[in-house]
Amino acid sequence: MEKEIQEAFQKDLERITSYQEIQEVKNKYLGKKGIVTELTSNMKDLSVEEKKEVGRLANTIRTYVTEEITKVEQRIEKEELNRKLEKDTIDISLPSEKIRRGSRHPFQRIVEDVEDFFVSMGYDVVDGPEVETDENCFQRLNVPLGHPARDAQDTFYIDPEYLLRTQTSSVQARTMQQNTEKTPIRMICPGKVYRRDDDATHSHQFGQVEGLVIDKNVSLADLKGTLELFAKKMLGENTKVRFRPSFFPFTEPSVEVDVSCFKCGGKGCPLCKQSGWIEVLGAGMVHPHVLEMGGYDPKEWTGFAFGTGLDRFAMFRYEIPDIRYLYTNDIRFLEQFDRKDEENEIK
Ligand code: DAH
Repeated sequence: MEKEIQEAFQKDLERITSYQEIQEVKNKYLGKKGIVTELTSNMKDLSVEEKKEVGRLANTIRTYVTEEITKVEQRIEKEELNRKLEKDTIDISLPSEKIRRGSRHPFQRIVEDVEDFFVSMGYDVVDGPEVETDENCFQRLNVPLGHPARDAQDTFYIDPEYLLRTQTSSVQARTMQQNTEKTPIRMICPGKVYRRDDDATHSHQFGQVEGLVIDKNVSLADLKGTLELFAKKMLGENTKVRFRPSFFPFTEPSVEVDVSCFKCGGKGCPLCKQSGWIEVLGAGMVHPHVLEMGGYDPKEWTGFAFGTGLDRFAMFRYEIPDIRYLYTNDIRFLEQFDRKDEENEIK
């Protein structure tokens, strides 16, 4: 009987070519109604001696069958893998899917250049909130409630106390207050500002950078030297700078700063409206009242401040005709700037 089962089993094994058939053979021998199981089904009718004998025999067969099936399983597994490897060829000559590479936003390029320049001059880059108090955005900058200078900055108010900052100058007020030791300050603050404005050259959201220096014996000459270097760094070595008297409530004296037109070199063209000059910055010596409100004694300390629009620099440098392109995230627009920077490197 043992031999008969073994021979039949061997034949079954040889015929196996798939997992499916392994399962079938397994069931045929080891399943609930399988041949090996059947061997022990009438054990209860046997004598003790016979039980021992049949039990031993059944165990031997069971172990043998299990081992042999495992071997076949491994063989089939290998065969199936080989078959799969032969069939599933990979064509390594196929072009792969193009991976899009991001590029820095033109606005970000300007911010990084501005930061590099001022950090190299020993300034800190500081940050301030876009939702600001009326106090920091206006009152501490010498623009009390009802002051006519507020009209120039059409403001989004959140409530009478809070607003979306209209100028990064608000960070001047913060920095002076936060510097409780009243030590010298050299900082710039690039960031977003908001005004109720919307056309090709004005957006309700735009970027500014504010600068503030407070120390002993800071003069207008320091401001002039700093801004001249800054203009050359941003717009090219040949850039000339001129200062015109102006008014800002938080500086006295105040100036507006023009740069020679980088398109025509000052000869006159449509960009500079034939004047040869382009206005880029507001600046001045920090008003004594503003110093006082910031906790600095104006008899001891002086300072200068300046502010400029960052979008304008991006628009000039990359010849972008409409500010709204900077905020609509059109990939076709954004992809151009790596190439433009290479062609038009201003260092
Ligand atoms: N905050 C001014 C504006 O938005 C720009 C400005 C002018 C900033 C003069 C200054 C400054 O710090 O001294 O129009």
